[in-house]
Amino acid sequence: MASSFHFLLLCSLLFLISPTIASATTSFRPKALVLPVSKDASTLQYLARLNQRTPFVPVKLTVDLGGQFLWVDCEKGYASSTYKPARCRSAQCSLAKASSCGECYSGPKPGCNNDTCSLLPDNTVTRTGTSGELAQDVLSIKSTNGFNPGRVVSVPKFLFTCGATFLLERLASGVKGMAGLGRTRISLPSQFSAAFSFHRKFAICLSSSTSANGVIFFGDGPYVMLPNIDVSKSLIYTPLILNPVSTASAYSQGDPSSEYFIGVKSIKINGKAVPLNASLLSIDKDGFGGTKISTVNRYTVMETTIYTAVIEAFVKQLANVPRVASVAPFGACFSSKNIGSTRVGPAVPQIDLVLQSQNVYWAIFGANSMVQVGNDVMCLGFVDGGSDPRTSIVIGGYQLEDNLLQFDFATSRLGFSSSLLFRQTTCANFNFTSNA
Ligand SMILES: *[C@@H]1O[C@H](CO)[C@@H](O)[C@H](O)[C@H]1NC(C)=O
Ligand SMILES: *[C@@H]1O[C@H](CO)[C@@H](O)[C@H](O)[C@H]1NC(C)=O
Ligand SMILES: *[C@@H]1O[C@H](CO)[C@@H](O)[C@H](O)[C@H]1NC(C)=O
Repeated sequence: MASSFHFLLLCSLLFLISPTIASATTSFRPKALVLPVSKDASTLQYLARLNQRTPFVPVKLTVDLGGQFLWVDCEKGYASSTYKPARCRSAQCSLAKASSCGECYSGPKPGCNNDTCSLLPDNTVTRTGTSGELAQDVLSIKSTNGFNPGRVVSVPKFLFTCGATFLLERLASGVKGMAGLGRTRISLPSQFSAAFSFHRKFAICLSSSTSANGVIFFGDGPYVMLPNIDVSKSLIYTPLILNPVSTASAYSQGDPSSEYFIGVKSIKINGKAVPLNASLLSIDKDGFGGTKISTVNRYTVMETTIYTAVIEAFVKQLANVPRVASVAPFGACFSSKNIGSTRVGPAVPQIDLVLQSQNVYWAIFGANSMVQVGNDVMCLGFVDGGSDPRTSIVIGGYQLEDNLLQFDFATSRLGFSSSLLFRQTTCANFNFTSNA
């Protein structure tokens, strides 16, 4: 008797309490979000996993720093009760700048519906683009206070583009699409900032290890790495430059590039300027030239004359170390028995990418410049980009590892930490133990 009374009382209390709990949950507004990023051992691509669809499924994606938006394969295995294509001329289409409108004859199904607008999803590894339906579906991700992951939050109508199965070519095993973090209104950072009204900033910190995760933060700092180092507090800033011409594989006339360009003015090795054709370092009216940052290039790629000059200067500064036969794709390899080691990797000449003034530079130390290719061989991790590349310098993944980069849309600037190894931490040192 007494127990059933208690049971009834408990039920009515729960009934009274539950609406407040529910509204508290929905009104929880994170200040930042966090996403673990792994490094795939066979492709060296950086991968992240987002939960999408109803019911939620984990979707493995290749991280594309300059990518325009999230695209996933909708052709194979896309099942969701909350999938919704974007109707032509809707607010979603205009936010995405998707002006083309289409019919589809083998549907209806995800990726194939009538009266929907489409975009051009782009595999930036193979440089292949195709047309794909713009759509929305629910996406979930963990919030963070900057120290640990917190509770999971979801965005009910997250915009993405439907890619096709063939577009997954050369992406890491199990990957279903690409996570574009570029400068558009519908890239992941833009949509997260809009959904939760937080700062239009995000940061990326790639791990050099294939067994320990790096991290992407959406929103402002703190960005804390063990042992309690807030990396957001000590960044060097440089303006981000807009390339007025799209660098995507397929694009509409007039689209600017969604990639992040910075103004490298000169290159110094051991403090000495490398002689370069400076006009290659600026972006011309057709969108050629300049320096961009990319997570889909494994190593930094340089236009041939820049590459040759850099190699020559580097070899000259490392004259006391025997050069050995080159190992592709690299052009300058050395006997590593003769190279000492420091806190920031092999003891080799420092390479500075000089930015807006002589005292603002991106310093590349041994851990980011030298690649161990065999027991006793180490190569300068830069590759030749040929004589007429679209972009003169592409700073690639290897050079980004264990450096935190913060991108700020509002002020259009990049903040970079330089090697975290100096501070006795790494990008694999975020504490992923949840405190939710
Ligand atoms: C789209 O419309 C065409 C013509 O009205 C029709 O044949 C086709 O089946 C429709 N497709 C879908 C996916 O509804
Ligand atoms: C420098 O590069 C520009 C752009 O590619 C080219 O037009 C010019 O001929 C180059 N100058 C020299 C001296 O090589
Ligand atoms: C990581 O965070 C958890 C949860 O806050 C905490 O208990 C743990 O001590 C942290 N780990 C380290 C190494 O500080």
